[in-house]
Amino acid sequence: MNLSGKKIVVGISGGIAAYKCAELVRRLKDQQCEVKVVMTESAKHFITPLTMQAVSGEPVSDSLLDPSAEAAMGHIEFAKWADLILIAPATSNIIAKMATGIADDLLTTLVLATPAKVAIAPAMNQQMFAHPATQRNLETLASDGVAIWGPGQGEQACGDIGKGRMLEPNELVEQCTSALLPAEQPLLGKVITITAGPTREALDPVRYITNHSSGKMGYGLAEAAKMLGATVNLISGPVKLNPPTDIHVSHVNSAIEMRDEALRLASESDVFIGCAAVADYRAADIAEQKIKKQGDAMTITLVKNPDIIAEVAALTAKRPYTVGFAAETQNVEQYALGKLKNKNLDMICANDVSQAGLGFNSDNNALTLFWQEEQVSLPTSNKNELALTVVKAIASKLD
Ligand code: C5P
Repeated sequence: MNLSGKKIVVGISGGIAAYKCAELVRRLKDQQCEVKVVMTESAKHFITPLTMQAVSGEPVSDSLLDPSAEAAMGHIEFAKWADLILIAPATSNIIAKMATGIADDLLTTLVLATPAKVAIAPAMNQQMFAHPATQRNLETLASDGVAIWGPGQGEQACGDIGKGRMLEPNELVEQCTSALLPAEQPLLGKVITITAGPTREALDPVRYITNHSSGKMGYGLAEAAKMLGATVNLISGPVKLNPPTDIHVSHVNSAIEMRDEALRLASESDVFIGCAAVADYRAADIAEQKIKKQGDAMTITLVKNPDIIAEVAALTAKRPYTVGFAAETQNVEQYALGKLKNKNLDMICANDVSQAGLGFNSDNNALTLFWQEEQVSLPTSNKNELALTVVKAIASKLD
């Protein structure tokens, strides 16, 4: 399947990654789609309109107030023409303008005037990307329904290393393909509830016990389940991730809060995935006032938290297909199969967290999926890709 017949506006803003846009447009044209390029004034400092015209085979648009361009195709007509507007690279400046609805040039005006899907490929210095203002603006755009593709991690043009690289042209073409072509939706009509992230167990008003879970795997599963057509409930512990769009998110802190929300949603769900790293214990008593320093040692009494997934799997009426996760540092198969049986799960996804760069707080993971009678090993890959494979495997087991 290619993108034949699809109409894409590639909007280029002024960042060094603009030099990759010639390649991006070439790869999109390979997919036989129609591409029109819009450039901001600052983009022209990084790549010339002539280059973009040559690769797209179309005149480049850059001005809102150009009578001849308006006569050929007015900006509202242009905005309606597109099936997708992809802004690549998207600088912190254009992201900020989009988040506040500023329309002071052709590209930002098209974004407001289009009924089409809008995607951005952020690209900037890692410090600029991490700035709270940029993060705030990205959250706003995500909740407005703008797709945010990337950025990637690695060495930057300025010499810094970190998050802020524009995705590579081939990765952006893949994103365009999944955004524009109808994916197979084996989970249409199914409801999936997913727990994600850590829990936070209060000791007193200012202190808590938690763990290093980032929530990336659970959020990836939620996105994947949505892509495959499911209605998704995500029960999330405290994480630093942008909430996915078109997914019902319940924010919780403690294991008890997570359990209450899980049991409320599980009996309405076809599938329950327990991906959260739930604290095994909580304080027996949460002090009402800040605990004061006393002596050289102190003892806190902990009591066991409920096993959320085991309670879901024990539901008698309307029990969902129940999938757990097991992070192990040794005897992965033995422990995973033990949990599958003891918690009465239908499937368990196990990973070896002793391997450097995998599992907790990392972008990558490697999983082995276990059922009672079967097992499948999935090689190391990005958590989002892995999530899609896991959700497809679950879908294949449902009636
Ligand atoms: O027993 P362990 O914590 O290793 O089991 C992991 C699996 O059980 C995960 O699916 C996790 O989300 C779930 N779990 C839970 N409630 C707990 C502990 C773990 O749902 N209290």
